[in-house]
Amino acid sequence: MVPLCAQEPPAAPKQARTPQAPKNLKVLKVPPADIRATMQSFRLALGVQCDFCHVKGDFASDDNPKKDIARKMIVLAQDVNAKFPDGKEHVTCYTCHRGDHEPKTAPPPAAPAAPTP
Ligand code: HEC
Ligand code: HEC
Repeated sequence: MVPLCAQEPPAAPKQARTPQAPKNLKVLKVPPADIRATMQSFRLALGVQCDFCHVKGDFASDDNPKKDIARKMIVLAQDVNAKFPDGKEHVTCYTCHRGDHEPKTAPPPAAPAAPTP
């Protein structure tokens, strides 16, 4: 039997509005659900906005060179942490950056010594 009218194809199931799965992770080893929190920690550690490392509106893009610097930094932190015997994360971006994108290499000049009483 040939049906007289072609049946409407079943409506495609509505896509749930979940955040997109990351498609360009090369070094981060965090579950996709934790990406946002990790990115917030980068933002706060360096005292920058998301677009310091990302092309606006396209987080998967590698066109912002800061993103590749950040990748090298992620690997650097992973390598240092791997050297601790207890397997814990001791060194984070904040350990060096302290809210600054350019970590200091020396303390500020010493304040004049307080007069001794
Ligand atoms: C210090 C640089 C830096 C900052 C700031 C930063 N990101 Fe990222 N982001 C990265 C790097 C590096 C990757 C890729 C990691 C990898 O390759 O494993 C990434 C990946 C991502 C991804 C995954 C994209 C994909 O599809 O692969 C998302 C989403 C994202 N970032 C969102 C954010 C948001 C939102 C903010 C601000 C809250 C932010 N990022 C701030 C460096 C940064
Ligand atoms: C061992 C210390 C150290 C750790 C840990 C570290 N960084 Fe850095 N990072 C530096 C130093 C030092 C510079 C500045 C290099 C320079 O002046 O050229 C820098 C520069 C950067 C820059 C370039 C900033 C600019 O102004 O161009 C980015 C982006 C960055 N780090 C991201 C990160 C992220 C993300 C993490 C954590 C995954 C991280 N760093 C962890 C020391 C560190």
